[in-house]
Amino acid sequence: MLGKTVLISALFLSSCVSGRVIQKNDEFSVKVNQEPLDPQGNYLLSWDVNLAAGKITFEVEAPTLGYVGFGISPSGNMIGADIFIGGVYSNGSTYGFDMHATAMAPPILDTQSDWTLISASEDASKTYLKFSRLLNTCDKDGDYPISNDTVQVIWSMGSSDTIAYHQSNRGTKSLNFLLPDEDNFNPGDYAHLDIVTDVEMPQQDTTYWCSIHKIQALNRKQHVVAFEALLDNELAMNHTHHFIIFKCVAPAGQDADDLFGPFVSHPGSQCYATPQPLPVNYCLQHYLFVWAKGGKRMIFPEDVGYPVPDELGENQYFLMELHYDNPQMLEGRKFKTGARIYHTNQLRPVEAGLLTIAHDLQISFTIPPNQEDFVLTGQCGSQCTNLGINNLPNGLQVFNSLLHGHLSAKKMKLRHFRGDKELPWFDVENHYDFNFQQSKPFPEVKRILKGDHLTVECTYDSRWNEGKVVVGGLSTREEMCMAFLWYYPKQTFEYCSSYYRLADHFATLGITNYTSSKPVNGALREYQIHRPAALAGEYKESLSTKFSWTPAFLNEYQDKHKYDVHTSVCRSTSGNLGAGPVQFPENFVEYVPDDKCNQ
Ligand SMILES: *[C@@H]1O[C@H](CO)[C@@H](O)[C@H](O)[C@H]1NC(C)=O
Ligand SMILES: *[C@@H]1O[C@H](CO)[C@@H](O)[C@H](O)[C@H]1NC(C)=O
Ligand SMILES: *[C@@H]1O[C@H](CO)[C@@H](O)[C@H](O)[C@H]1NC(C)=O
Ligand SMILES: *[C@@H]1O[C@H](CO)[C@@H](O)[C@H](O)[C@H]1NC(C)=O
Repeated sequence: MLGKTVLISALFLSSCVSGRVIQKNDEFSVKVNQEPLDPQGNYLLSWDVNLAAGKITFEVEAPTLGYVGFGISPSGNMIGADIFIGGVYSNGSTYGFDMHATAMAPPILDTQSDWTLISASEDASKTYLKFSRLLNTCDKDGDYPISNDTVQVIWSMGSSDTIAYHQSNRGTKSLNFLLPDEDNFNPGDYAHLDIVTDVEMPQQDTTYWCSIHKIQALNRKQHVVAFEALLDNELAMNHTHHFIIFKCVAPAGQDADDLFGPFVSHPGSQCYATPQPLPVNYCLQHYLFVWAKGGKRMIFPEDVGYPVPDELGENQYFLMELHYDNPQMLEGRKFKTGARIYHTNQLRPVEAGLLTIAHDLQISFTIPPNQEDFVLTGQCGSQCTNLGINNLPNGLQVFNSLLHGHLSAKKMKLRHFRGDKELPWFDVENHYDFNFQQSKPFPEVKRILKGDHLTVECTYDSRWNEGKVVVGGLSTREEMCMAFLWYYPKQTFEYCSSYYRLADHFATLGITNYTSSKPVNGALREYQIHRPAALAGEYKESLSTKFSWTPAFLNEYQDKHKYDVHTSVCRSTSGNLGAGPVQFPENFVEYVPDDKCNQ
């Protein structure tokens, strides 16, 4: 716990500098987290969770002598938000109100008050609030139940204590309050390898920068025990929005050194530029570690390690996708951003593997235009888990999960079926935020047994795309529906997905004649429609501008893609395991989470 203690005192130290000491006390006994909520870093939120008591305590430090607002919102704005407003009146008395909003209008008091003000104070320029509530207050109309998925917090500051419109003093941020604590991990106990991008940040608002890296040759097998972000300085912290480390995997018959080696000295390029100088398409589907602002270290369980290089001699080439955030279009800023991979040559008794569950990136992954809640599912069927998982008494023991979609994804869920019963969901994000991806350690391992069926269920909002379809693809404006599960003991099993059959997809759309380009350099195929003549042309263009998406057809289209027979893709590191067709389970007893509020 030493590392954490140091972290906590650093936090108190910085609070001292700002003129006030936040006292450590019983309310903050479990964990302390701190995040600035505004871009300037002036509105600071700290929180502490006491799981046993089911309680969360917040502290806010905000640069105003007026009211301070804090809330949790399903939409990211006022509508439906659960809000707490507190402060200190000019006569010195304090206030804290449990409120909610039903519209973009001033919040209203809850009929039942569940947020409790613990203290409020002011100095010359700031207000300090401390307040708490139960994670689940059971006030269904007023309060948002806090769980271990990502939530959008909203904040505001008033210029006076009269709760009036806050003008531009407001904002939104994604956070996850309930990520478990780090174990006793001491970075000093391990060697490390760094994957670092060190280029001048492009002078544009948003950049996805891709670069290929080779880890220095290790003279013997090592176990990776943790990943973390490496941010060189304040500039790097301010402008690194998030990054993803991918493994680069050469296709069968090609040598990784030939394919990726020449690009190790390349400074990198914009990830989705065409033509693309780097062989990014061989990497962008093999996730290893994702870090986003506020993200934590990923630590393997104590007796578990991830082998580098692995048995195929792989895990030597990596791609780093770095999202630079440069809203002020600053020029000439150069800093290092990277991932640190902690490893050891004291091999741990158990090796970890990474299993991907997905809807494959085939053209049947087409989200119709202007959809608010389009649901797509990818199936990892029982035939594939039967083939992929060896005879293990406990099956695959999964200890960490990452759900992954792109900018249109708004909800994600990984469902788990055994026999005719649905088991508790593996992972769920009801407010998925591409900009706040976080791999989540499970509090207890979850087991996948031979014959289990898993379904990744993704909900998309395509309204942003101005009447165009959104297709499955590698770019952030295209989509993915994926779950990455870290498990042990390592098997060769690595990929279990499905896709709605292409023949059925085209038949559903009434397309009778089409052709596709041969994919080059790992890119996806491009499709041309020839018949019917009314739809002739480039696939995406035709479906966006010529196709008639009636409400009745949209329902049928969604149901077919979700429930009809899919082709399964079932793979181990040594090749295809060849499972046949797969389908969303039928006639099962659905899992319904306990509602402790109804007991
Ligand atoms: C980082 O951002 C903060 C808050 O906007 C700002 O005060 C600081 O000057 C920035 N630091 C650098 C090195 O750009
Ligand atoms: C302080 O001011 C507030 C707001 O005007 C008022 O509601 C409260 O009663 C006052 N408290 C005291 C102790 O005067
Ligand atoms: C989230 O909480 C549920 C219920 O307590 C638990 O079963 C699940 O493992 C947790 N998931 C993660 C990723 O922490
Ligand atoms: C499909 O369209 C192409 C291009 O117009 C044409 O060459 C081909 O003969 C058509 N195939 C069939 C089966 O009609």
